[in-house]
Amino acid sequence: MSGIIKLGVIGDPINHSLSPNIHKLFAERAKIEIEYLAYRVASSNLENFIKSFFKDGGTGLNVTLPHKVDCLNSVDEFSLIVKKIGAANTLRREKGTNKIFADSTDGMGLIKGLHGAKINEIKSDILIIGAGGAAQSIIHNLQDRHPRVIVIANRTKEKIKPVISRFPPLDYDDLYPNTQVVDIETYINQWNHQGFHTVINATSARKDSDFKWCESLPIEDATNFYDLSYSMPDETTPFIKWARHQGNSSVRKNISDGFGMLIHQAALSFEIWTGIKPDTNISKGELFNG
Ligand code: ATR
Repeated sequence: MSGIIKLGVIGDPINHSLSPNIHKLFAERAKIEIEYLAYRVASSNLENFIKSFFKDGGTGLNVTLPHKVDCLNSVDEFSLIVKKIGAANTLRREKGTNKIFADSTDGMGLIKGLHGAKINEIKSDILIIGAGGAAQSIIHNLQDRHPRVIVIANRTKEKIKPVISRFPPLDYDDLYPNTQVVDIETYINQWNHQGFHTVINATSARKDSDFKWCESLPIEDATNFYDLSYSMPDETTPFIKWARHQGNSSVRKNISDGFGMLIHQAALSFEIWTGIKPDTNISKGELFNG
């Protein structure tokens, strides 16, 4: 086998993807040679592309919107987490068998991103705003940290129930709470509020005014806010602008965008493909300007 490891990311659109630059930095620092390209792949060509990429010697692919669910039709095996969330962001060719294996690093990327933002020890209530694919990709890993409860709020209420039904309490021993996932109405009516430990934005909202509907949510005591979206170095995401005005102004809030999660989910993919844990100490400036 030649030394160069053939990798890539598929999506549509794909020109905004930071993944090629992130993986280039990982490889430089790990002193290995990779080729990591961004491929714009239409849905109609998805299966053909995935199969050809691996048949032609590809080692791994990241998968982004809109293919995270449909890519599963083109793979041979899934990780447990992919089975649970019904979506993948990392495909690899298994050595020996050449089978295509699907995994998801988003949820663990979030947990590492939260740690990086010093949002640790998630024992009390978590609020996730949004009920699309981004929300689904993180719920299992959050459940696995045993918060008291995970609450879902979404602009379109009907979309919450199908998400909740995917995530029954994990079957653990008595040492941990079996974290339930509930909708915001159930939480308000049936749980005693302890204040949210962390509020996570999993919507694709793009405008500052998009978070106005969240004003009715009981987040007055929340002190940690984490956005799965990230912004350019000199910009701020709408969620972060909104979060700054929430709650008690005399209490110090911990507010972070999803840049850390972006780097960590990429690092976990890199490790799946190469066996190397890359150096994740990457700044926004380095990535956007370099
Ligand atoms: P993804 O896979 O990125 O999560 P998605 O499945 O389209 O994308 O889901 C997007 C999420 O962002 C949804 O929860 C969506 O809310 P609706 O179900 O009400 O559409 C939410 N979202 C998108 N634009 C929004 C906006 N302007 N305000 C509030 N929520 C928004």
